[in-house]
Amino acid sequence: MKLLAGAPRGTQDLLPEVTANWQMIEQLALKTAERYGFLEIRIPTMEHTELFRRSVGDSTDVVQKEMFTFTDRGGRSLSLRPEGTAGTVRAALASGLLNGALPVKLCYLLTCFRNERPQAGRLKEFHQFGAELFGSESPVADAELIEMAAAYFDSLGIKGLTLAINSIGCPDCRKEYQKALVDYFSSKKERLCETCKGRLEQNPLRLLDCKSAECQEIAKDAPVILDYLCPSCKEHFEGVKQALQAAKIPYQVNPRIVRGLDYYTRTVFEFISNDLGAQSTLCGGGRYDKLVEVMGGPPTPALGFAVGLERLLLILEAQKSNLLESKKGPELFLLSLGEKGLQAAASLAASLRKEGVSVETDLMNRSLKAQMKYADKQKAKYTCVLGDDELASGVLTVKRMKDGAVETLLIDNFVEEWKSKIGKKG
Ligand code: HAM
Repeated sequence: MKLLAGAPRGTQDLLPEVTANWQMIEQLALKTAERYGFLEIRIPTMEHTELFRRSVGDSTDVVQKEMFTFTDRGGRSLSLRPEGTAGTVRAALASGLLNGALPVKLCYLLTCFRNERPQAGRLKEFHQFGAELFGSESPVADAELIEMAAAYFDSLGIKGLTLAINSIGCPDCRKEYQKALVDYFSSKKERLCETCKGRLEQNPLRLLDCKSAECQEIAKDAPVILDYLCPSCKEHFEGVKQALQAAKIPYQVNPRIVRGLDYYTRTVFEFISNDLGAQSTLCGGGRYDKLVEVMGGPPTPALGFAVGLERLLLILEAQKSNLLESKKGPELFLLSLGEKGLQAAASLAASLRKEGVSVETDLMNRSLKAQMKYADKQKAKYTCVLGDDELASGVLTVKRMKDGAVETLLIDNFVEEWKSKIGKKG
């Protein structure tokens, strides 16, 4: 039984105490995205494994070590999505969205699955808000996308984030760079982890984001890609920096950012927070100008980012954000005395709900005192008693719970009076 009651390690139940906060950050995400012209897309939780192998990359930690992969009854290999970009590109291509007017701007809220060792801010099932922009090569698009992420964090009042940017160039400039990397790491081969020894041949760029402490130590002195950019990638990166300055978005260039996924080209960026401990990256993204083509579509430059929502909430908690609330209560709790009172409360509740007011009544046949205690626990904003006396007088007294202030309303005109006297004040 113990096994059945506990959620699998690295997953969590989101209970009513916290779901109001999730709704708040999700609604704000969609609202911010809409201001920048990004519309929501919803994609499947699982995809063909091949999709992630080809896009995220065969030699990445995500594909090699972290995917939840299984074979379906038809013998096909499927994987739970470790991220949202690959599925979004596939869906955009499959639906012909990219054949229409460009740019196409899509955003999503989704769960991702990575079999990582759980710790604060790192789960096996987690949530992302992401955005993907297809069709523009302009550095202004990079800056606009970064500005959107920053605007989202601003709207949540988050402080102390650092934006770090880098360019990892295109396949052309990477050829020289990869040679330099191989030269550097080969001289230290015996100290590398087994996975990285393989990477030396398969995908040298991945040597830079190995999670092993020893490999990270070696990577500190490795050559940096910025010194190897070709003229057009250099010009693009200069353009991104200028556009960020024009948009008044502070950034730091960090030539060591390479990101853990293979599809990136040119701009990569991360928003880092000091409030997150070891898992300090709140948001990561960048360009992936070759991915649409790799997946069988027309050459289409593209870029995007994703924010980890668990990490976002950790920051809001650490910063004691006043946007966080513990639980949403009803606007009004109609307390009742006696059978007639209960019936009147139920019918009044129905009329109010039709008008969009959230109302609860006693469903447990409790004493008035116990109803009051329950209404308080439920965090009702207002309470109002309906008993024989109130029904006889036709006058109801509505009490604001936070300060005890009262307002009298006529029972026959309750809905209208609620709207004019209380509903407006909220
Ligand atoms: P990513 O850096 O792998 O990028 O993930 C984005 C964010 O998801 C991270 O910055 C972090 O906040 C959160 N995250 C990642 N892994 C975990 C985990 N195990 N537990 C909790 N949170 C986690 C991507 O996924 C790319 N698809 C972003 C992108 C979109 N690039 C272009 N378009």
